[in-house]
Amino acid sequence: MLQQLFRTKSLDAILREAEKPESQLRRALGPFDIVMLGIGAIIGSGIFATIGTAVAGDALRPGAGPAIVLSFALTAVACAFCGLCYAEFASLVPISGSAYTYSYATLGELVAWIIGWDLIIEYAVGNVAVAIAWAAYFHQLCDGLGWHIPAWLSVDYRSAAQAGESMLTAGGQVDPSLALPFEAWKHHPELFGIPIIFNALSVGIVAVITWLLIIGVKESVRVNNVMVLIKLCILGFFIYAGSQFVKPEHWTPFMPNGFGGVWVGASLIFFAYIGFDAISTAAEECRRPSRDLPIGIIGSLIICTVIYIAVAMVLTGMVPWQSLGVADPLAAAFAYVGADLSAGIVAVGAVVSMTAVLLVFQYGQPRIFFSMSRDGLLPAHFARVHPRYKTPHITTFWTGVAVAVVSAIANINEIVELTNIGTLFAFVLVCVGVIVLRHREPNRPRAFRTPLVPLVPLLGIASCIYLMAGLPWVTWVRFGGWLAIGLVVYLGFGWRRSKLARTGE
Ligand code: ALA
Repeated sequence: MLQQLFRTKSLDAILREAEKPESQLRRALGPFDIVMLGIGAIIGSGIFATIGTAVAGDALRPGAGPAIVLSFALTAVACAFCGLCYAEFASLVPISGSAYTYSYATLGELVAWIIGWDLIIEYAVGNVAVAIAWAAYFHQLCDGLGWHIPAWLSVDYRSAAQAGESMLTAGGQVDPSLALPFEAWKHHPELFGIPIIFNALSVGIVAVITWLLIIGVKESVRVNNVMVLIKLCILGFFIYAGSQFVKPEHWTPFMPNGFGGVWVGASLIFFAYIGFDAISTAAEECRRPSRDLPIGIIGSLIICTVIYIAVAMVLTGMVPWQSLGVADPLAAAFAYVGADLSAGIVAVGAVVSMTAVLLVFQYGQPRIFFSMSRDGLLPAHFARVHPRYKTPHITTFWTGVAVAVVSAIANINEIVELTNIGTLFAFVLVCVGVIVLRHREPNRPRAFRTPLVPLVPLLGIASCIYLMAGLPWVTWVRFGGWLAIGLVVYLGFGWRRSKLARTGE
Protein backbone atom coordinates (compact mmCIF):
# COMPACT_ATOMS: atom_id res chain seq x y z
CA MET A 1 0.00 0.00 0.00
CA LEU A 2 2.72 2.47 0.98
CA GLN A 3 4.58 1.58 -2.16
CA GLN A 4 1.51 2.43 -4.19
CA LEU A 5 1.06 5.80 -2.51
CA PHE A 6 4.62 6.75 -3.31
CA ARG A 7 4.72 5.35 -6.85
CA THR A 8 6.38 7.85 -9.18
CA LYS A 9 6.01 8.41 -12.91
CA SER A 10 9.25 8.20 -14.82
CA LEU A 11 10.26 11.45 -16.43
CA ASP A 12 10.62 9.72 -19.78
CA ALA A 13 7.05 8.41 -19.57
CA ILE A 14 5.75 11.88 -18.73
CA LEU A 15 7.53 13.43 -21.69
CA ARG A 16 6.41 10.64 -24.07
CA GLU A 17 2.80 10.95 -23.04
CA ALA A 18 2.67 14.67 -23.60
CA GLU A 19 3.74 14.08 -27.18
CA LYS A 20 0.60 12.09 -28.06
CA PRO A 21 -1.30 14.08 -30.71
CA GLU A 22 -4.70 13.95 -28.96
CA SER A 23 -3.23 15.51 -25.83
CA GLN A 24 -1.20 18.21 -27.56
CA LEU A 25 -1.67 21.90 -27.02
CA ARG A 26 -0.58 24.44 -29.63
CA ARG A 27 3.06 25.62 -29.21
CA ALA A 28 2.59 29.30 -29.88
CA LEU A 29 4.50 31.15 -27.14
CA GLY A 30 8.03 32.67 -27.19
CA PRO A 31 10.20 34.11 -24.34
CA PHE A 32 8.70 37.61 -24.63
CA ASP A 33 5.17 36.21 -24.28
CA ILE A 34 6.29 34.23 -21.23
CA VAL A 35 7.85 37.18 -19.37
CA MET A 36 4.70 39.17 -20.17
CA LEU A 37 2.56 36.26 -18.93
CA GLY A 38 4.57 36.34 -15.68
CA ILE A 39 4.20 40.08 -15.14
CA GLY A 40 0.54 39.69 -16.06
CA ALA A 41 0.12 37.20 -13.21
CA ILE A 42 2.31 38.91 -10.63
CA ILE A 43 1.34 42.60 -10.60
CA GLY A 44 -2.30 42.83 -9.59
CA SER A 45 -4.46 43.16 -6.53
CA GLY A 46 -1.46 42.53 -4.23
CA ILE A 47 0.17 45.88 -5.05
CA PHE A 48 -3.10 47.73 -5.69
CA ALA A 49 -5.18 46.40 -2.75
CA THR A 50 -3.48 44.01 -0.25
CA ILE A 51 -0.63 46.49 0.35
CA GLY A 52 -3.14 48.66 2.25
CA THR A 53 -3.79 46.08 4.99
CA ALA A 54 -0.13 45.04 5.00
CA VAL A 55 0.98 48.65 5.74
CA ALA A 56 -1.79 49.82 8.06
CA GLY A 57 -2.84 46.51 9.66
CA ASP A 58 -6.40 45.95 10.83
CA ALA A 59 -8.32 44.90 13.93
CA LEU A 60 -6.66 41.46 13.82
CA ARG A 61 -3.01 42.25 13.00
CA PRO A 62 -0.32 44.92 13.27
CA GLY A 63 0.77 46.68 10.07
CA ALA A 64 4.34 46.98 8.79
CA GLY A 65 4.12 50.79 8.35
CA PRO A 66 6.82 52.31 6.09
CA ALA A 67 8.89 49.17 6.80
CA ILE A 68 6.64 47.43 4.25
CA VAL A 69 9.66 47.83 1.94
CA LEU A 70 11.43 45.31 4.21
CA SER A 71 8.40 42.99 3.94
CA PHE A 72 8.65 43.20 0.16
CA ALA A 73 12.39 42.52 0.24
CA LEU A 74 11.94 39.57 2.60
CA THR A 75 9.22 38.04 0.44
CA ALA A 76 11.19 38.65 -2.74
CA VAL A 77 14.15 36.73 -1.32
CA ALA A 78 11.88 33.81 -0.40
CA CYS A 79 10.34 33.84 -3.89
CA ALA A 80 13.78 34.03 -5.51
CA PHE A 81 14.87 30.81 -3.75
CA CYS A 82 11.66 29.09 -4.83
CA GLY A 83 11.78 30.66 -8.30
CA LEU A 84 15.22 29.16 -8.87
CA CYS A 85 13.84 25.74 -7.92
CA TYR A 86 10.78 26.20 -10.13
CA ALA A 87 13.03 27.19 -13.03
CA GLU A 88 15.08 23.99 -12.75
CA PHE A 89 11.96 21.85 -12.65
CA ALA A 90 10.24 23.76 -15.41
CA SER A 91 13.19 23.30 -17.74
CA LEU A 92 13.55 19.62 -16.79
CA VAL A 93 9.87 18.66 -16.96
CA PRO A 94 8.47 21.10 -19.53
CA ILE A 95 4.92 19.83 -19.22
CA SER A 96 1.78 21.72 -18.33
CA GLY A 97 0.74 21.03 -14.75
CA SER A 98 3.36 23.00 -12.82
CA ALA A 99 4.38 21.72 -9.38
CA TYR A 100 1.89 18.90 -9.73
CA THR A 101 3.76 17.30 -12.63
CA TYR A 102 7.14 17.95 -11.06
CA SER A 103 6.19 16.18 -7.89
CA TYR A 104 4.63 13.20 -9.70
CA ALA A 105 8.08 12.52 -11.10
CA THR A 106 9.86 12.94 -7.81
CA LEU A 107 7.82 12.56 -4.67
CA GLY A 108 5.15 10.09 -5.75
CA GLU A 109 1.47 10.01 -6.61
CA LEU A 110 0.05 10.91 -3.20
CA VAL A 111 2.21 14.02 -2.84
CA ALA A 112 1.46 14.94 -6.47
CA TRP A 113 -2.25 14.68 -5.79
CA ILE A 114 -1.89 16.80 -2.65
CA ILE A 115 -0.03 19.45 -4.63
CA GLY A 116 -2.55 19.40 -7.49
CA TRP A 117 -5.33 19.78 -4.95
CA ASP A 118 -3.36 22.47 -3.15
CA LEU A 119 -2.76 24.38 -6.38
CA ILE A 120 -6.52 24.81 -6.73
CA ILE A 121 -6.13 27.13 -3.75
CA GLU A 122 -3.42 29.11 -5.47
CA TYR A 123 -5.05 29.46 -8.86
CA ALA A 124 -8.80 29.23 -8.51
CA VAL A 125 -9.14 30.51 -4.92
CA GLY A 126 -6.50 33.20 -5.58
CA ASN A 127 -8.49 34.30 -8.59
CA VAL A 128 -11.58 34.61 -6.44
CA ALA A 129 -9.67 37.24 -4.39
CA VAL A 130 -8.51 39.08 -7.50
CA ALA A 131 -12.01 39.07 -9.00
CA ILE A 132 -13.40 40.57 -5.78
CA ALA A 133 -10.71 43.29 -5.68
CA TRP A 134 -11.35 43.95 -9.39
CA ALA A 135 -15.04 44.45 -8.68
CA ALA A 136 -14.28 46.95 -5.88
CA TYR A 137 -12.00 49.09 -8.08
CA PHE A 138 -14.35 48.83 -11.05
CA HIS A 139 -17.24 49.98 -8.93
CA GLN A 140 -15.27 53.02 -7.74
CA LEU A 141 -14.13 53.81 -11.24
CA CYS A 142 -17.70 53.78 -12.52
CA ASP A 143 -18.73 55.96 -9.60
CA GLY A 144 -16.01 58.46 -10.51
CA LEU A 145 -17.36 58.55 -14.06
CA GLY A 146 -20.88 59.16 -12.80
CA TRP A 147 -22.26 55.65 -13.51
CA HIS A 148 -23.70 54.32 -10.32
CA ILE A 149 -23.71 50.53 -10.02
CA PRO A 150 -25.86 49.47 -7.04
CA ALA A 151 -23.74 48.39 -4.05
CA TRP A 152 -25.83 45.22 -3.59
CA LEU A 153 -24.48 44.00 -6.96
CA SER A 154 -20.85 44.78 -6.02
CA VAL A 155 -20.13 43.08 -2.67
CA ASP A 156 -20.81 39.76 -0.93
CA TYR A 157 -23.59 39.27 1.60
CA ARG A 158 -21.31 38.51 4.58
CA SER A 159 -19.17 41.65 4.17
CA ALA A 160 -22.36 43.70 3.95
CA ALA A 161 -23.75 42.13 7.11
CA GLN A 162 -20.43 42.63 8.97
CA ALA A 163 -20.25 46.27 7.86
CA GLY A 164 -23.82 46.77 9.04
CA GLU A 165 -22.99 45.29 12.44
CA SER A 166 -19.75 47.25 12.89
CA MET A 167 -21.62 50.47 12.13
CA LEU A 168 -24.12 49.64 14.84
CA THR A 169 -21.42 48.93 17.42
CA ALA A 170 -19.43 52.04 16.41
CA GLY A 171 -22.53 54.21 16.88
CA GLY A 172 -23.11 54.81 13.15
CA GLN A 173 -19.54 55.96 12.33
CA VAL A 174 -18.67 54.87 8.78
CA ASP A 175 -15.13 53.56 8.31
CA PRO A 176 -14.26 54.64 4.72
CA SER A 177 -13.07 51.13 3.84
CA LEU A 178 -16.54 49.76 4.72
CA ALA A 179 -18.62 52.37 2.88
CA LEU A 180 -19.63 50.13 -0.04
CA PRO A 181 -20.68 47.03 1.94
CA PHE A 182 -22.52 49.31 4.33
CA GLU A 183 -24.44 50.89 1.46
CA ALA A 184 -25.38 47.39 0.26
CA TRP A 185 -26.59 46.55 3.76
CA LYS A 186 -28.79 49.65 3.87
CA HIS A 187 -30.29 49.36 0.36
CA HIS A 188 -30.92 45.99 -1.29
CA PRO A 189 -33.89 44.17 -2.82
CA GLU A 190 -35.41 41.11 -1.20
CA LEU A 191 -36.94 37.96 -2.64
CA PHE A 192 -39.42 36.15 -0.37
CA GLY A 193 -37.84 37.98 2.55
CA ILE A 194 -34.28 36.90 1.62
CA PRO A 195 -31.84 39.84 1.13
CA ILE A 196 -30.30 39.88 -2.36
CA ILE A 197 -26.65 40.96 -2.06
CA PHE A 198 -23.98 39.36 -4.24
CA ASN A 199 -20.99 40.34 -6.32
CA ALA A 200 -22.35 40.45 -9.87
CA LEU A 201 -19.35 42.48 -11.09
CA SER A 202 -16.86 39.74 -10.21
CA VAL A 203 -19.10 37.15 -11.87
CA GLY A 204 -19.20 39.28 -15.02
CA ILE A 205 -15.44 39.70 -15.36
CA VAL A 206 -14.78 35.99 -14.74
CA ALA A 207 -17.30 35.11 -17.47
CA VAL A 208 -15.57 37.37 -20.01
CA ILE A 209 -12.11 35.99 -19.16
CA THR A 210 -13.34 32.40 -19.41
CA TRP A 211 -14.77 33.04 -22.86
CA LEU A 212 -11.45 34.61 -24.03
CA LEU A 213 -9.52 31.57 -22.84
CA ILE A 214 -11.82 29.08 -24.48
CA ILE A 215 -11.45 30.69 -27.90
CA GLY A 216 -7.68 30.34 -27.92
CA VAL A 217 -4.36 30.85 -26.18
CA LYS A 218 -2.62 33.13 -28.66
CA GLU A 219 -5.53 35.54 -28.81
CA SER A 220 -5.58 35.69 -25.02
CA VAL A 221 -1.83 36.16 -24.75
CA ARG A 222 -2.04 39.11 -27.14
CA VAL A 223 -4.67 40.72 -24.97
CA ASN A 224 -2.40 40.03 -21.98
CA ASN A 225 0.61 41.71 -23.61
CA VAL A 226 -1.32 44.91 -24.18
CA MET A 227 -2.64 44.90 -20.62
CA VAL A 228 0.83 44.35 -19.14
CA LEU A 229 2.22 47.33 -21.05
CA ILE A 230 -0.60 49.53 -19.76
CA LYS A 231 0.01 48.30 -16.21
CA LEU A 232 3.75 49.05 -16.33
CA CYS A 233 2.97 52.56 -17.58
CA ILE A 234 0.45 53.13 -14.77
CA LEU A 235 2.84 52.00 -12.03
CA GLY A 236 5.58 54.13 -13.64
CA PHE A 237 3.12 57.02 -13.52
CA PHE A 238 2.38 56.34 -9.83
CA ILE A 239 6.08 56.37 -8.96
CA TYR A 240 6.79 59.54 -10.95
CA ALA A 241 3.70 61.57 -10.01
CA GLY A 242 3.60 60.30 -6.42
CA SER A 243 7.26 61.14 -5.76
CA GLN A 244 6.38 64.85 -6.13
CA PHE A 245 4.29 64.55 -2.95
CA VAL A 246 6.72 62.54 -0.81
CA LYS A 247 7.46 64.01 2.64
CA PRO A 248 10.36 62.13 4.25
CA GLU A 249 8.88 62.68 7.74
CA HIS A 250 6.20 60.09 6.83
CA TRP A 251 8.94 57.46 6.85
CA THR A 252 9.49 57.88 10.62
CA PRO A 253 8.93 55.90 12.71
CA PHE A 254 10.07 53.45 10.08
CA MET A 255 9.01 50.31 11.94
CA PRO A 256 6.03 51.37 14.10
CA ASN A 257 5.09 47.80 15.07
CA GLY A 258 8.58 46.38 15.27
CA PHE A 259 9.75 43.36 13.31
CA GLY A 260 6.47 41.58 14.11
CA GLY A 261 4.67 44.06 11.83
CA VAL A 262 7.21 43.46 9.05
CA TRP A 263 6.73 39.71 9.38
CA VAL A 264 2.92 39.83 9.29
CA GLY A 265 3.17 42.33 6.41
CA ALA A 266 5.41 39.90 4.51
CA SER A 267 3.06 36.96 4.99
CA LEU A 268 0.20 39.06 3.57
CA ILE A 269 2.08 40.81 0.79
CA PHE A 270 3.29 37.45 -0.46
CA PHE A 271 0.03 37.54 -2.41
CA ALA A 272 1.56 40.27 -4.60
CA TYR A 273 4.30 37.86 -5.76
CA ILE A 274 2.14 34.85 -6.53
CA GLY A 275 2.14 34.28 -10.24
CA PHE A 276 5.73 33.78 -11.33
CA ASP A 277 5.19 30.06 -10.89
CA ALA A 278 2.04 30.18 -13.03
CA ILE A 279 4.34 30.62 -16.00
CA SER A 280 5.43 27.01 -15.71
CA THR A 281 1.89 25.83 -16.52
CA ALA A 282 2.43 27.16 -20.05
CA ALA A 283 5.28 24.71 -20.66
CA GLU A 284 3.47 22.71 -23.33
CA GLU A 285 2.63 25.84 -25.25
CA CYS A 286 6.19 27.28 -25.33
CA ARG A 287 8.21 27.04 -28.48
CA ARG A 288 11.43 26.28 -26.49
CA PRO A 289 10.45 25.58 -22.88
CA SER A 290 13.94 24.84 -21.57
CA ARG A 291 15.09 28.35 -22.51
CA ASP A 292 11.85 30.34 -22.29
CA LEU A 293 10.63 29.21 -18.86
CA PRO A 294 13.70 30.09 -16.77
CA ILE A 295 13.90 33.47 -18.56
CA GLY A 296 10.22 34.04 -17.83
CA ILE A 297 10.32 33.09 -14.15
CA ILE A 298 13.50 34.87 -13.08
CA GLY A 299 12.99 37.85 -15.42
CA SER A 300 9.47 38.66 -14.28
CA LEU A 301 10.39 38.22 -10.60
CA ILE A 302 13.25 40.73 -10.84
CA ILE A 303 11.22 43.31 -12.76
CA CYS A 304 8.30 43.11 -10.32
CA THR A 305 10.45 43.34 -7.18
CA VAL A 306 12.11 46.56 -8.36
CA ILE A 307 8.71 48.07 -9.18
CA TYR A 308 7.12 47.00 -5.86
CA ILE A 309 9.85 48.47 -3.71
CA ALA A 310 9.70 51.77 -5.60
CA VAL A 311 5.88 51.91 -5.31
CA ALA A 312 6.00 51.07 -1.58
CA MET A 313 8.56 53.82 -0.85
CA VAL A 314 6.57 56.45 -2.71
CA LEU A 315 3.24 55.33 -1.20
CA THR A 316 4.42 55.42 2.41
CA GLY A 317 6.20 58.73 1.77
CA MET A 318 3.04 60.38 0.41
CA VAL A 319 0.65 59.85 3.33
CA PRO A 320 0.76 58.76 6.99
CA TRP A 321 0.90 54.95 7.00
CA GLN A 322 -2.16 54.62 9.28
CA SER A 323 -4.40 56.11 6.57
CA LEU A 324 -3.70 53.35 4.05
CA GLY A 325 -6.07 50.67 5.40
CA VAL A 326 -8.55 51.15 2.54
CA ALA A 327 -9.58 48.97 -0.42
CA ASP A 328 -7.82 51.24 -2.97
CA PRO A 329 -4.66 52.55 -1.20
CA LEU A 330 -2.78 53.75 -4.30
CA ALA A 331 -5.70 55.80 -5.60
CA ALA A 332 -6.55 56.92 -2.07
CA ALA A 333 -3.02 58.29 -1.58
CA PHE A 334 -3.50 60.64 -4.55
CA ALA A 335 -6.94 61.62 -3.31
CA TYR A 336 -5.36 62.37 0.09
CA VAL A 337 -2.93 64.89 -1.43
CA GLY A 338 -5.71 66.39 -3.57
CA ALA A 339 -4.60 64.94 -6.93
CA ASP A 340 -7.98 63.57 -8.02
CA LEU A 341 -7.14 63.16 -11.69
CA SER A 342 -4.08 61.05 -10.79
CA ALA A 343 -6.30 59.00 -8.44
CA GLY A 344 -8.62 58.25 -11.39
CA ILE A 345 -5.72 57.29 -13.66
CA VAL A 346 -4.40 54.86 -11.03
CA ALA A 347 -7.88 53.34 -10.58
CA VAL A 348 -8.03 52.60 -14.33
CA GLY A 349 -4.59 51.00 -14.06
CA ALA A 350 -5.72 48.81 -11.19
CA VAL A 351 -8.68 47.49 -13.16
CA VAL A 352 -6.47 46.71 -16.16
CA SER A 353 -3.79 45.04 -14.01
CA MET A 354 -6.21 42.81 -12.21
CA THR A 355 -7.80 41.79 -15.49
CA ALA A 356 -4.37 40.59 -16.63
CA VAL A 357 -3.91 38.58 -13.41
CA LEU A 358 -7.31 36.96 -13.82
CA LEU A 359 -6.37 35.97 -17.33
CA VAL A 360 -3.15 34.19 -16.36
CA PHE A 361 -4.65 32.35 -13.39
CA GLN A 362 -7.75 31.27 -15.25
CA TYR A 363 -5.31 30.05 -17.88
CA GLY A 364 -3.21 28.08 -15.38
CA GLN A 365 -5.88 26.24 -13.39
CA PRO A 366 -7.48 24.29 -16.28
CA ARG A 367 -4.05 23.15 -17.40
CA ILE A 368 -3.38 21.61 -13.99
CA PHE A 369 -6.73 19.82 -14.09
CA PHE A 370 -5.84 18.79 -17.64
CA SER A 371 -2.60 17.13 -16.48
CA MET A 372 -4.30 15.43 -13.52
CA SER A 373 -6.99 14.06 -15.77
CA ARG A 374 -4.45 12.81 -18.31
CA ASP A 375 -2.93 10.85 -15.40
CA GLY A 376 -6.29 9.36 -14.47
CA LEU A 377 -6.55 11.20 -11.14
CA LEU A 378 -9.55 13.15 -12.43
CA PRO A 379 -12.25 12.05 -14.93
CA ALA A 380 -10.95 11.51 -18.47
CA HIS A 381 -13.14 14.02 -20.27
CA PHE A 382 -11.31 16.83 -18.41
CA ALA A 383 -8.32 16.19 -20.69
CA ARG A 384 -10.22 16.76 -23.93
CA VAL A 385 -8.82 19.50 -26.16
CA HIS A 386 -11.19 21.58 -28.29
CA PRO A 387 -10.92 20.35 -31.90
CA ARG A 388 -10.77 23.84 -33.40
CA TYR A 389 -9.35 26.13 -30.69
CA LYS A 390 -6.89 23.55 -29.29
CA THR A 391 -7.62 24.66 -25.71
CA PRO A 392 -8.67 22.53 -22.71
CA HIS A 393 -12.18 23.96 -23.01
CA ILE A 394 -14.00 21.69 -20.55
CA THR A 395 -11.74 22.44 -17.58
CA THR A 396 -11.57 26.11 -18.58
CA PHE A 397 -15.35 26.32 -18.51
CA TRP A 398 -15.80 24.59 -15.15
CA THR A 399 -13.00 26.60 -13.55
CA GLY A 400 -14.78 29.75 -14.71
CA VAL A 401 -18.08 28.61 -13.22
CA ALA A 402 -16.51 27.73 -9.86
CA VAL A 403 -14.49 30.97 -9.54
CA ALA A 404 -17.48 33.09 -10.55
CA VAL A 405 -19.86 31.46 -8.05
CA VAL A 406 -17.44 31.63 -5.10
CA SER A 407 -16.44 35.23 -5.89
CA ALA A 408 -20.11 36.22 -5.76
CA ILE A 409 -20.34 35.25 -2.08
CA ALA A 410 -16.81 35.19 -0.55
CA ASN A 411 -14.89 37.59 1.72
CA ILE A 412 -11.60 38.85 0.23
CA ASN A 413 -9.33 38.88 3.32
CA GLU A 414 -10.01 35.26 4.20
CA ILE A 415 -9.47 34.25 0.60
CA VAL A 416 -6.09 36.07 0.36
CA GLU A 417 -4.78 34.32 3.48
CA LEU A 418 -5.93 30.92 2.29
CA THR A 419 -4.30 31.50 -1.09
CA ASN A 420 -1.02 32.46 0.56
CA ILE A 421 -0.82 29.41 2.81
CA GLY A 422 -1.72 27.03 -0.03
CA THR A 423 0.81 28.53 -2.40
CA LEU A 424 3.61 28.59 0.17
CA PHE A 425 2.98 24.93 0.89
CA ALA A 426 3.23 24.08 -2.82
CA PHE A 427 6.51 26.02 -2.98
CA VAL A 428 7.91 23.99 -0.08
CA LEU A 429 7.16 20.77 -1.92
CA VAL A 430 8.78 22.04 -5.12
CA CYS A 431 11.98 22.88 -3.21
CA VAL A 432 11.96 19.39 -1.67
CA GLY A 433 11.46 17.94 -5.16
CA VAL A 434 14.58 19.62 -6.54
CA ILE A 435 16.72 18.05 -3.82
CA VAL A 436 15.14 14.61 -4.31
CA LEU A 437 15.55 14.64 -8.07
CA ARG A 438 19.16 15.82 -7.95
CA HIS A 439 19.82 12.84 -5.73
CA ARG A 440 17.78 10.35 -7.77
CA GLU A 441 18.66 11.42 -11.31
CA PRO A 442 21.88 13.45 -11.03
CA ASN A 443 22.90 12.99 -14.65
CA ARG A 444 19.70 13.95 -16.42
CA PRO A 445 20.37 17.06 -18.57
CA ARG A 446 19.00 20.23 -17.02
CA ALA A 447 18.70 23.31 -19.24
CA PHE A 448 18.65 25.38 -16.07
CA ARG A 449 20.33 24.35 -12.81
CA THR A 450 19.37 25.82 -9.44
CA PRO A 451 22.64 27.14 -7.95
CA LEU A 452 24.04 25.82 -4.64
CA VAL A 453 21.79 22.77 -4.19
CA PRO A 454 20.82 21.82 -1.49
CA LEU A 455 21.42 25.22 0.16
CA VAL A 456 19.07 27.26 -2.06
CA PRO A 457 16.13 24.80 -1.87
CA LEU A 458 16.63 24.49 1.90
CA LEU A 459 16.56 28.28 2.26
CA GLY A 460 13.42 28.28 0.08
CA ILE A 461 11.75 25.76 2.40
CA ALA A 462 12.75 27.67 5.54
CA SER A 463 11.57 31.04 4.22
CA CYS A 464 8.20 29.66 3.07
CA ILE A 465 7.57 28.06 6.46
CA TYR A 466 8.52 31.36 8.11
CA LEU A 467 5.95 33.23 6.01
CA MET A 468 3.29 30.57 6.65
CA ALA A 469 3.86 30.98 10.38
CA GLY A 470 2.89 34.65 10.07
CA LEU A 471 -0.68 33.71 9.06
CA PRO A 472 -3.50 33.34 11.61
CA TRP A 473 -4.33 29.90 13.02
CA VAL A 474 -7.80 29.92 11.48
CA THR A 475 -6.13 29.96 8.05
CA TRP A 476 -4.13 26.87 9.05
CA VAL A 477 -7.33 25.13 10.12
CA ARG A 478 -9.08 25.95 6.82
CA PHE A 479 -6.06 24.77 4.89
CA GLY A 480 -5.93 21.51 6.85
CA GLY A 481 -9.64 20.98 6.11
CA TRP A 482 -9.07 21.53 2.40
CA LEU A 483 -6.24 18.98 2.31
CA ALA A 484 -8.37 16.46 4.23
CA ILE A 485 -11.19 16.77 1.65
CA GLY A 486 -8.59 16.27 -1.07
CA LEU A 487 -7.39 13.08 0.56
CA VAL A 488 -10.93 11.70 0.62
CA VAL A 489 -11.38 12.50 -3.08
CA TYR A 490 -8.07 10.82 -3.89
CA LEU A 491 -8.87 7.67 -1.98
CA GLY A 492 -12.36 7.59 -3.51
CA PHE A 493 -11.35 8.15 -7.15
CA GLY A 494 -7.73 8.71 -8.21
CA TRP A 495 -6.27 5.92 -6.13
CA ARG A 496 -7.93 3.22 -8.28
CA ARG A 497 -8.34 5.13 -11.56
CA SER A 498 -4.74 6.36 -11.71
CA LYS A 499 -3.16 5.47 -15.03
CA LEU A 500 0.08 4.72 -13.25
CA ALA A 501 -1.70 2.14 -11.08
CA ARG A 502 -3.41 0.56 -14.09
CA THR A 503 -0.70 0.58 -16.75
CA GLY A 504 2.50 1.13 -14.80
CA GLU A 505 3.24 4.41 -16.59
N1 ALA B 1 0.11 38.38 -7.57
C1 ALA B 1 -1.26 38.45 -7.91
C2 ALA B 1 -1.88 39.71 -7.48
O1 ALA B 1 -1.26 40.47 -6.79
C3 ALA B 1 -2.00 37.27 -7.41
O2 ALA B 1 -3.01 39.98 -7.83
